[in-house]
Amino acid sequence: MSPRKIIIDTDPGQDDAVAILLALASPDEVEVLGITAVAGNVPLPLTQRNARIVCELAGRTDIPVFAGCDAPLKRKLVTAEHVHGKTGLDGPQLPDPTMPLQDKHGVDFIIDTLRDAPSGTVTLCPLGPLTNIATALQRAPDIAPKIQDIVLMGGAYFQVGNITPAAEFNIYVDPEAAEIVFKSGIPISVLPLDVTHKALVTAPRVEAFRTMGTEVGRMVAEWTDFFERFDKEKYGSEGAPLHDPCVPAYLIRPDLFTGRHINVEIETTSELTLGMTVADWWRVSGRAPNAMFMGDVDADGFFALLTERLARL
Ligand code: BDR
Ligand code: CA
Repeated sequence: MSPRKIIIDTDPGQDDAVAILLALASPDEVEVLGITAVAGNVPLPLTQRNARIVCELAGRTDIPVFAGCDAPLKRKLVTAEHVHGKTGLDGPQLPDPTMPLQDKHGVDFIIDTLRDAPSGTVTLCPLGPLTNIATALQRAPDIAPKIQDIVLMGGAYFQVGNITPAAEFNIYVDPEAAEIVFKSGIPISVLPLDVTHKALVTAPRVEAFRTMGTEVGRMVAEWTDFFERFDKEKYGSEGAPLHDPCVPAYLIRPDLFTGRHINVEIETTSELTLGMTVADWWRVSGRAPNAMFMGDVDADGFFALLTERLARL
């Protein structure tokens, strides 16, 4: 089977960085058409820069990187330096990127790529707030049938929130964008906190990265070391959740994940629960399903896949 064509939309972020590396290390399963950066974990000038640093680390200066939207549709940007550090990729010493940023706006890249593609052949992989994706859908509704699936990291049901008691960060930052995406009628697959909080980077798993003996292995170990300190204290767990790599892992090995096709609505008005993904896991609302909402992952299988793939870079 030919590899699935994907666009990664991202706000790196150490876990975004690992997700990009996993996708780039898996050319038999996924072909990365381009990477669009969005404001999220840190502001856009840093996320687009970080995306280029990661491509260079993977030796893939041929991947076009675009800057997209620098702020949510209707709200002031909320960032997460408290988790990811000042640069978004704090941890190891990082070189300045030398590969260029593309001139085109990220949203135009998404629109143009989809318009040129046959129906249902491109998968969008958002790893940050959904601003770029929603803007593309609003500006060019004709692209919707070209999308095979939107496979995103965001939201939560049983785990509820990480940035507020009710909301997960990516959805909270731009709830209006999330609402547009979830109401679009396009197939959506969601990797929420319910899954990522089972994908914990425990000490032996970090050591497997560190002892790979490669630059990629060392960087990934130092990145995970960095954000672990915050999450381990917050959750009292034996390791921090590795969120975004669940997206490419789901594309490569869907058998590692289980979930339900259910209705998911986004809270956009309540101050208390803004950005909540109201997931009808028990199918009590009677509302039509609009998303494949994953609930579980084979964590050992996930880390075995990740370690094996990263070692290829
Ligand atoms: C999500 O928020 C970001 O901090 C991570 O990169 C991930 O995409 C987890 O809530
Ligand atoms: Ca992210």
